[in-house]
Amino acid sequence: MFESVRRQEFREYFQPSRISIAIIKSDKENEYNLITLCFSMYCSYKPNMISFSVQNTNYSYKLLDKVDHCVLAIPGEKLAEETLFCGDMSGKNVDKIRKCGFTLYKSSKIETPSILEMKSNIELKIVNKIITGDHLTVFGEVLSFNVNKKNVERNLVSVGKIHEGYEILAAKGIHRIATIR
Ligand SMILES: Cc1cc2nc3c(=O)[nH]c(=O)nc-3n(C[C@H](O)[C@H](O)[C@H](O)COP(=O)(O)O)c2cc1C
Repeated sequence: MFESVRRQEFREYFQPSRISIAIIKSDKENEYNLITLCFSMYCSYKPNMISFSVQNTNYSYKLLDKVDHCVLAIPGEKLAEETLFCGDMSGKNVDKIRKCGFTLYKSSKIETPSILEMKSNIELKIVNKIITGDHLTVFGEVLSFNVNKKNVERNLVSVGKIHEGYEILAAKGIHRIATIR
């Protein structure tokens, strides 16, 4: 009745994934790096906690070693191209905030800034980091969920090859960034 499939094929049976963009202090002075993520989840209510995982091939992996706070920003549909860009280019070679034309906005509880153009910005205090295979999983306590209620754009999701019911807004290689139709 069931057949075993490979991970990439399994994406079609386990979609969509929510998309966020982590804002992480860079090792360059006064700079912050952005990384698009779909490996994230709530992992506690009391306190509110969210975890996310970053692969060891990414520049952000090394940056996460040095930080104890970060922001998880939630982009809306108008930022599909920028979200793909932050999930395709490495901050090692490019200032993604400048390239995307994002406006930094003072966070309420932490030094790491938020991004004005996002639907929301979640301020996190990092309480644990665990190496999980080829990813680092970061556990963050939510210090503040900051929402721009005037931004009513649809949320972005990551979908697989078969994606009926979703509208693809930006795509490259294995990545398809979509919103619900
Ligand atoms: C939709 C989407 C979701 C992604 N999710 C993740 C993720 O959860 N974890 C991860 O390590 N990389 C993820 N990536 C890939 C990274 O965003 C990508 O490798 C990025 O260029 C790394 O940037 P950095 O080198 O500046 O850290 C995703 C990319 C896209 C487009």
